[in-house]
Amino acid sequence: MVDPISKKPFVTVDSDGFLAPCGFRYTYRDGVPDFRVQLGAGAKMWAQGQKTFAQWFMRYLDRGEASNSFYPAEQQRDRRVYEAITLEGRVLDVGGQLGHIRKYMAPHQQYCSIDPFVGVHLLASNRKNLFANYPLTLPLNFLGGFAEFLPIRDESFDTVNMRSCIDHFFNPEIALMEAFRVTRKRGKLIVGLKIEGHTLKSSLLDIAKGVVGTFVSRYKDHHMWHPSYAGLIALCRGCGFDLEKEYWQTSDVLYASFIRRDTHLVTVETDN
Ligand SMILES: C[S@@+](CC[C@H](N)C(=O)[O-])C[C@H]1O[C@@H](n2cnc3c(N)ncnc32)[C@H](O)[C@@H]1O
Repeated sequence: MVDPISKKPFVTVDSDGFLAPCGFRYTYRDGVPDFRVQLGAGAKMWAQGQKTFAQWFMRYLDRGEASNSFYPAEQQRDRRVYEAITLEGRVLDVGGQLGHIRKYMAPHQQYCSIDPFVGVHLLASNRKNLFANYPLTLPLNFLGGFAEFLPIRDESFDTVNMRSCIDHFFNPEIALMEAFRVTRKRGKLIVGLKIEGHTLKSSLLDIAKGVVGTFVSRYKDHHMWHPSYAGLIALCRGCGFDLEKEYWQTSDVLYASFIRRDTHLVTVETDN
């Protein structure tokens, strides 16, 4: 691990926390190493979105306990995705929460989840169905932090996974540049998310949400960004990742894998 801002190794690491070269000390919150860099502008909107998401997540956990078929049905859908687009080698799960995707990895693979939702493990405790269906009793490498400031060494992961979270980030471009930095050359980026405007139905739903949002809240929903297909592919390409494979889980939920280029820069061809 490194200081999430300077990317230099910590001066000391002990039970008091992580001392960065600049003198700032990152500590623990709810037992989790907390690398959530404090951000100014945009933080209020993000915090509002995160609060709405946390409420949604509690309802999700309640539904999982109320019905024995809830998690198996979810896994039937998700397993197909990760059979088509495999999680390879050492995996960094950005916005990875409780590490659900370990269900689709081999037992020997190394895994780390980094997510600003530092108290999420407390919400999960005593959820019988959740623990029966997902490998949550395994020790979990979990860091509190943001995709935009990864406390991770350069080129140290084979796969970076971002499922249903790019649209939650403050700044997807910085997050993808960080993903490029921590992925090994020719390593893999996996992105899964709902694509805006891909079907007529989703376009109409998005317009309706926008109209309702004008009256009910300042925010359309708890997402910070609503990418189109072209917007997502262009962003990944611009940050050094070339599209490898696509898997449409539904008509508007896309999973895509990208290969990390050796260098970030795209060479411009000239006639000379
Ligand atoms: C819909 S959940 C997806 C969780 C998990 N990836 C999955 O597929 O089950 C979105 C996650 O993104 C996280 N998140 C929000 N902002 C983030 C940021 N700036 N950096 C990293 N994760 C973030 C949230 O805390 C939340 O856990």
